[in-house]
Amino acid sequence: MKLLILNGPNINMLGIREPGIYGKESYRDLEDKAFAYARERGHDLRILQSNHEGDLVDWIQEAWRDGVEGIVINPAAYTHTSIALLDAVKAVGIPTVEVHISKVEEREDFRQVSYIRKACIATVTGRGIEGYIDAIKILEER
Ligand code: DQA
Repeated sequence: MKLLILNGPNINMLGIREPGIYGKESYRDLEDKAFAYARERGHDLRILQSNHEGDLVDWIQEAWRDGVEGIVINPAAYTHTSIALLDAVKAVGIPTVEVHISKVEEREDFRQVSYIRKACIATVTGRGIEGYIDAIKILEER
């Protein structure tokens, strides 16, 4: 499958950022793990991260032009604010799985809202970086 993993703001700080919440594994560890799994399964995988909402919108639109068959997205803080990301996923119609490293449902009230969830086929939370692999498996089984 042609797959895209998108990560929003501060996900590049994994391992440094609040390790008690997000774990000690780095962004590089996340990339290595996802690429290793993709290689094993024969997927064509691209992984991108940005701290800017518009980049994420642009990459979702590009995915449609490039024939991407599944998106795994951790929109990070934009989960809780971005109608633009919701609209982008709806616009392209590519099966998309929402991932959160932490168990967002057990955290602050402001993290209980997810705009993008309405456009996603599934949500994975609280599984650390393994959650990205879970999300790929959901796309495979679809
Ligand atoms: C997060 C949860 C969000 O609430 C937070 O803003 C993040 C990361 C997660 O992966 O657990 O940056 O998406």
